[in-house]
Amino acid sequence: MSLIDTARAVRENAYVPYSKFKVGAAIRTTSGNIYAGCNVENVAYPEGTCAEAGAIAAMVAGGDTRIAEITVIADSPKPVSPCGGCRQKIAEFADGDVVVTLATMDGIVLHTTVAELLPGSFDADYMSRV
Ligand code: THU
Repeated sequence: MSLIDTARAVRENAYVPYSKFKVGAAIRTTSGNIYAGCNVENVAYPEGTCAEAGAIAAMVAGGDTRIAEITVIADSPKPVSPCGGCRQKIAEFADGDVVVTLATMDGIVLHTTVAELLPGSFDADYMSRV
C-alpha cells in the first residue's frame, strides 16, 4: 500500500466528534517501516491530538525514530497544512530535506519539505553551551 493510501485508510478511524474533521497521517521510516495515525479529539478540547502526533507516537513505540517521508490527508479544499506544533514534532525526527506530502481526499497533492514547513526551527544546536 502506498503511503497516501495508508494515510487515507487510517483517516477513517479518526475520533472527531467535535470538529468532524478527519485527518490521517502515514510515515515511512529510514528503516522502511510504515506507521499510521489519526486525530483523536477529547471533550476537553486542548487534550485532542493531531494525526501527525499519532503517527509519530506509533513510530516511536514501534522502535523507529527517523522519518524518511510523511504524508497527511484530509477532506479539505486545499492540501491540509500541519499545525505549528506538529511541524516541530516532525522536525524532531526528520531532516530538513524530508518530503512532506499534503493531500486532499479529491486528489490534490502538494509536496513540500520539513525545512519549508518550519524555517528557522529550534534545534539542539542552540543548547550547545549548556
Ligand atoms: N488536525 C490534524 O490532525 N492535523 C493537521 O495537520 C491539522 C489539524 C486535526 C486537529 C483537530 O482534531 C482537527 O484536525 C481540527 O483542527
